[in-house]
Amino acid sequence: MEQEYYKTEKSVKEYIQLAKDVNGQELIEKLQVYLKEHSTILELGSGPGTDWGILNKRFEVTGSDNSLEFLKHLRANNPNHLFLELDAVTLETERCFDGIYSNKVLHHLNDQELKESIIRQKDILNDNGIICHSFWKGKGSEIFKGLFVNYHEKESLKKFFEPHFNILLLEEYAEFEEGDSLLLIAKKPTNS
Ligand SMILES: C[S@@+](CC[C@H](N)C(=O)[O-])C[C@H]1O[C@@H](n2cnc3c(N)ncnc32)[C@H](O)[C@@H]1O
Repeated sequence: MEQEYYKTEKSVKEYIQLAKDVNGQELIEKLQVYLKEHSTILELGSGPGTDWGILNKRFEVTGSDNSLEFLKHLRANNPNHLFLELDAVTLETERCFDGIYSNKVLHHLNDQELKESIIRQKDILNDNGIICHSFWKGKGSEIFKGLFVNYHEKESLKKFFEPHFNILLLEEYAEFEEGDSLLLIAKKPTNS
């Protein structure tokens, strides 16, 4: 779905300010259990680039976003690194990765887009590839700040991911308050 909020200079500056004290350190520590050092990772929706910086210490990470404003910020702050303009739904890249990571990105996809994304993610993962994604926990969907937000429960995530991936971890965590978020880590099945 078109997400105008992330596409303007003003809103991107506002988001960077709002998100300055949050990061995915704890999620990335869980991912490290399943993905060895120096593995190649594609980050979807890198946004301000905070998690990209944490991932970059341990992995060969490629950041991406579908917002040109966020890409401008990412490229200006990390001039020696490659950032791809990539839509998390279509994932139009020829490259393959050992892992795909996103923190609070895939909730902007509606159900059909999420299905498409999951299939593309499997296509661009190497054998035994790992995905690691966070979601806002809840029911239904809403428009927040003009952005589409699709909430998920453990059961809905199982329904979307289990036909394509072996789920290794699916648990609640607190972003702002207890149980407001879900983390999913899953593995591409062999021979698929
Ligand atoms: C809530 S922000 C999260 C940013 C960052 N991951 C973080 O943890 O701060 C959502 C990000 O996803 C990006 N995004 C939204 N829809 C997207 C899509 N379909 N494809 C790629 N990126 C998308 C936005 O531009 C924004 O950078």
